[in-house]
Amino acid sequence: MQFTNEELKQKINELKNKLSVTVVSHFYQRDEVFEMGDITGDSLELAVRTRDDDAEFVVFCGVGFMGQSVKVLSPNKRVVMPKVACCAMARMIDSMYFDDSVKFLQDNGISKENILPITYINSNADVKAKVGEMGGMVCTSSNAKTIITTAIKEGKKILFVPDRCLGQNIANQMGLKSCVIGDGENPNEADIICYNGFCSVHQLFTVDDINFYRKKYPGILIATHPECDPSVCDASDFVGSTSQLIKYITELPEDQKVAVGTEFNMVNRLRAKNTYVLSSTKPECPTMNETTLEDLYVTLKAIDDGEPINEIFIDEKTQKWAKIALERMLAL
Ligand code: 13P
Ligand code: SF4
Repeated sequence: MQFTNEELKQKINELKNKLSVTVVSHFYQRDEVFEMGDITGDSLELAVRTRDDDAEFVVFCGVGFMGQSVKVLSPNKRVVMPKVACCAMARMIDSMYFDDSVKFLQDNGISKENILPITYINSNADVKAKVGEMGGMVCTSSNAKTIITTAIKEGKKILFVPDRCLGQNIANQMGLKSCVIGDGENPNEADIICYNGFCSVHQLFTVDDINFYRKKYPGILIATHPECDPSVCDASDFVGSTSQLIKYITELPEDQKVAVGTEFNMVNRLRAKNTYVLSSTKPECPTMNETTLEDLYVTLKAIDDGEPINEIFIDEKTQKWAKIALERMLAL
């Protein structure tokens, strides 16, 4: 049966009131799904805030690694996802490719004991577990600088996976040397060795886009996410995670123009006036947009019927080490 969005919202609210559930939505979700969230935020906030929540079910509207992070941090919670949609960047690495990256460093004379791996939270639990087992930790775009500042004190080579842009951007900010596996450079000469993964959405933003907006609207500010290419971040006025971007943009004077380089849904929702999407190509994250109101309704209905769907399960060993990697980050 086909329902209108208004009918679906009503049904969703009825089920939310009846069941022990918390609906969680990431900033990049479609507006109508975002609106249904009891908890909304960036990937780190969602994982931390759901940990402190006491509903039996977490219904996670986002991408796979985010739902997994909630499950890893709170193994006793039942986590279901209206769509188990996987972030394109997280799919660019798995435990085998992680091992190959470690081997690449070893083949260049760097011993395993001298490698400190750090994984961006945009990776699946198996990669987080590998990182945890090697003494490493997770970071997010909001705390990457703090995590790397701590890690660098250990005097080891940092293997940063999977986002080369975030790794390079932090290295540039901190005056550290970075290289990318596969770029032909000698890893011995770099402080941070980045895996060659990237976000297909944030790759859309270019320096040409920035030049276009600066010429069209003199005085405009440019704000971008650190998953953008380093050339784009270097040419920006502000670089920050989704929460940091929201804070920066909403605190601007009303007549200040700003062009923003991150996912479409979030930028579109930010300010009615004077906020532009920094690309002529719509930067919509395909997997974030997969979750619909109907999926959310079907997922809640399945809980109500006693047959939850799309529940996240993680094997014991992966759970243990991924949790250690996440908790090392939270401790900082
Ligand atoms: P945040 O960690 O800022 O929520 O970003 C997640 C993400 O997928 C950005 O593309
Ligand atoms: Fe992944 Fe990029 Fe989508 Fe973020 S915007 S969830 S990094 S594909």
